[in-house]
Amino acid sequence: SRPVSVAVAGLGTVGAGVVNVLRANADIIAARAGRPIAVTAVSARDRSRDRGVPVSGLRWYDDPVALAADPQVEVVVECIGGSDGPAKALVEAALAAGKHVVTANKALLAVHGAALATQAEAKGVALAFEASVAGGIPAIKAVREGLAANRISRVAGILNGTCNYILTTMREQKREFAEVLTEAQKLGYAEADPSFDIDGIDAAHKLAILAALAFGRPVDFGAVHVEGIREVSALDIALAEELGYRIKLLGIARREDGGISTRVHPCMVPVGAPIARVDGVFNAVVAEGDFVGRIMMEGRGAGGGPTASAVVADLIDIARGRCTPVWGAEAATLKPEPSLPMDRH
Ligand code: NDP
Ligand code: HSE
Repeated sequence: SRPVSVAVAGLGTVGAGVVNVLRANADIIAARAGRPIAVTAVSARDRSRDRGVPVSGLRWYDDPVALAADPQVEVVVECIGGSDGPAKALVEAALAAGKHVVTANKALLAVHGAALATQAEAKGVALAFEASVAGGIPAIKAVREGLAANRISRVAGILNGTCNYILTTMREQKREFAEVLTEAQKLGYAEADPSFDIDGIDAAHKLAILAALAFGRPVDFGAVHVEGIREVSALDIALAEELGYRIKLLGIARREDGGISTRVHPCMVPVGAPIARVDGVFNAVVAEGDFVGRIMMEGRGAGGGPTASAVVADLIDIARGRCTPVWGAEAATLKPEPSLPMDRH
């Protein structure tokens, strides 16, 4: 049957990963999607760069926004990054043109997710973003769909692979922050501007998305309390270890009396706690619901393979005609709850 025609905007760690997964697993993906899924158009800045995946024969656009006007494209995959600029312009243009959108861009969704969701729902197209939170862990599906029967009281976790990699390597190899950060960048884990990782902003973006799904409504990103790991030294980590603790950058969103609290900061976690043993680029997502109790998922939170795995899962859903409301069905019917200031957490 006719392939689903996909455009990939951005051919860096994630975009090239998507092209690679679609090629390598084309047979099982076609079987699960009910149709083959084929990349037919791409966009990036530098045509001459070797991306480790074949792009010859695909329609190439220097301007990513032009992908939205390509009549053959059914689904646009946005892997550029940034809360504004070409990523936002492309997603808006693609939704306006009635195309489905898959994005890995948590910065965009944390800030503009509610408006984009409204646009997608009005057009009857998908806005899918499994890859935006915790890389390869199917956290979006688990929280929004798997726990849909529950009132969720808390969603939390290790939400930044770069920081967890840095903290783990500093502890295991007694190395200092700066050189380990360079390593995480080389491995493709860090954001284009790594201060988003180490200052906790990326984890806050993901927490805002998870909290929106858990509590069924958009969350005010500006109200998330954010601290990063810049000030954590190898000595702090060693002293914590002596006292029986690991230092982890956690994101925590809780339903409290009178509102929702959201915060990201380094935490001392007892060495025996399951989350303390989530190391390296791995992330963990924890949720608590009134009937399910506590669940925890663990897996690689960054890198081309795990992230592309999540993007392609969304493409398969779209090919199958599954088009879930973005924040969950109750978003339209529940009263907004206020975001609590830090002194109420
Ligand atoms: P990269 O920096 O590796 O890739 C970005 C791509 O976008 C590059 O191909 C670049 O082109 C292209 N690009 C950048 N600016 C423009 C522009 N103005 N016009 C056209 N193309 C542009 O980023 P990642 O792949 O790491 O990340 C992409 C997205 O995925 C981000 O939103 C990120 O937050 C998210 N993400 C990343 C993960 C990871 O592990 N890296 C995990 C989960 C999500 P060129 O190559 O020519 O420079
Ligand atoms: N920079 C992000 C991280 C990529 O390190 O977790 C995955 O979202």
